[in-house]
Amino acid sequence: MPPLLDARPGRSFALRVQSGTTSFYPGRPSDTLGYNGSYLGPTIRVRRGDDVAAVVTNGLNADTTVHWHGLLIPGELDGGPHQIIAPGATWRPTLPIRQPAATLLYHSHVHGLTAEQVYSGLAGALLVTDDEEQGLGLPSEYGVDDLPLLIQDRQFENGRLVMPGGMMVAMQGRRGDTILVNGAVNPLAAVPNRLVRLRLVNASNARIYELSFSDRRSFHWIGTEGGLLEHAVALEAITLAPGQRAELLVDFTDGRSASLVTAADTNSSMMGGMGMMGRGARRTDAAAPATVLRFEPRPLGQARASGVVPTLLASRTGPDASKAVRRRRLSLNMGMGGMMGSGSGGGGLTINGKPFDMNRIDETVKLGSTEIWEVSGEMMRHPIHIHGVHFDVLTRGGGQPDVLDQGPRDTVLVKEPVELLIRFDQPAKSAPFMYHCHILEHEDNGMMGQFSVA
Ligand code: C2O
Ligand code: CU
Ligand code: CU
Repeated sequence: MPPLLDARPGRSFALRVQSGTTSFYPGRPSDTLGYNGSYLGPTIRVRRGDDVAAVVTNGLNADTTVHWHGLLIPGELDGGPHQIIAPGATWRPTLPIRQPAATLLYHSHVHGLTAEQVYSGLAGALLVTDDEEQGLGLPSEYGVDDLPLLIQDRQFENGRLVMPGGMMVAMQGRRGDTILVNGAVNPLAAVPNRLVRLRLVNASNARIYELSFSDRRSFHWIGTEGGLLEHAVALEAITLAPGQRAELLVDFTDGRSASLVTAADTNSSMMGGMGMMGRGARRTDAAAPATVLRFEPRPLGQARASGVVPTLLASRTGPDASKAVRRRRLSLNMGMGGMMGSGSGGGGLTINGKPFDMNRIDETVKLGSTEIWEVSGEMMRHPIHIHGVHFDVLTRGGGQPDVLDQGPRDTVLVKEPVELLIRFDQPAKSAPFMYHCHILEHEDNGMMGQFSVA
């Protein structure tokens, strides 16, 4: 379990971005990056209603930023590509926490370096809590029956972390044949033999997980990126794309061990699929079904939670479709032709044909307004993420959204086109918000745009 950094009222929290070495396998140190440590960062917990002072110091020899993914705050506090922290510098944003309880994440977001810095370890969990959530009696003993689980795939050679590169990586996203949870290989969770809350965070660069339990037990899906659902949904499998989060309640009362497993990741561009990029065997390995995390229930800790899944979790007034004043279209393009010609890996990744440009504001939105954004994609599934908002999926493929589309979202998978209903309540005037594919190599290579809200 990552250490818990509890930002109590009136207190600040400090993060130091640093480089170090991590022995994922004993005696095999790898060069890695982390927050207050050598790989990943502490779990930060904040409370709704607080103004939390963050102190972020960059101890690297390279620029970095810390993006609060899913936090609803103004653009200049967002930690995106415009809030660069130079080597040796300290960034001190005060974060107004005004949203319901949720599982968020924080990670590096330097344009062109996001994928490499996150791969090397710059990510962590950020939890928002509030009185409503605490009144539900959900499992909430951190690290005992309330577990943040950052899932990542990484590539190792002789036990040392390596960073795959090249054109196929630019197209498909960087994958690995080893799955880590909270930075651990072959992870094992000792859990109490009762109801346990899992806060799943896909902190991988590109891999999409199709998660279920080895014994096909069902679980209760209780939360999305934006927070708790209105009602728990009984599921046997859930999809988690890069940037997405899901909160689950799993019943271990019977004391039986079980593993969280993933099916194969079939997401690939036609190019990779045709085997044009070489090293095809590695791609197949990296996308194979795998064990994510083994659970061993035993009598542990104090049972403070009721052990009962509440019938009503959260009430929420989402955006109102009848108030939508505008429609915008985003097309996530992979520009095959141009890329083949240019010879520069990933040069053809764009939104609406335009590669990301820090100096171009692509869309201008009116503060407080509601809009429908229609997002479509090319060649493979792309997780679209929009900063500064939590939206609803209105339609998918022109019809009803999937069961898995429900709830307040900030990242959803686009295969068939989706219509997203969004209310823009956070200003982004002095610094814009981003929207992008959360396959980090797509984002770094141009599949990103920016919008202002005023
Ligand atoms: Cu999690 Cu713009 O990112
Ligand atoms: Cu974000
Ligand atoms: Cu993409």
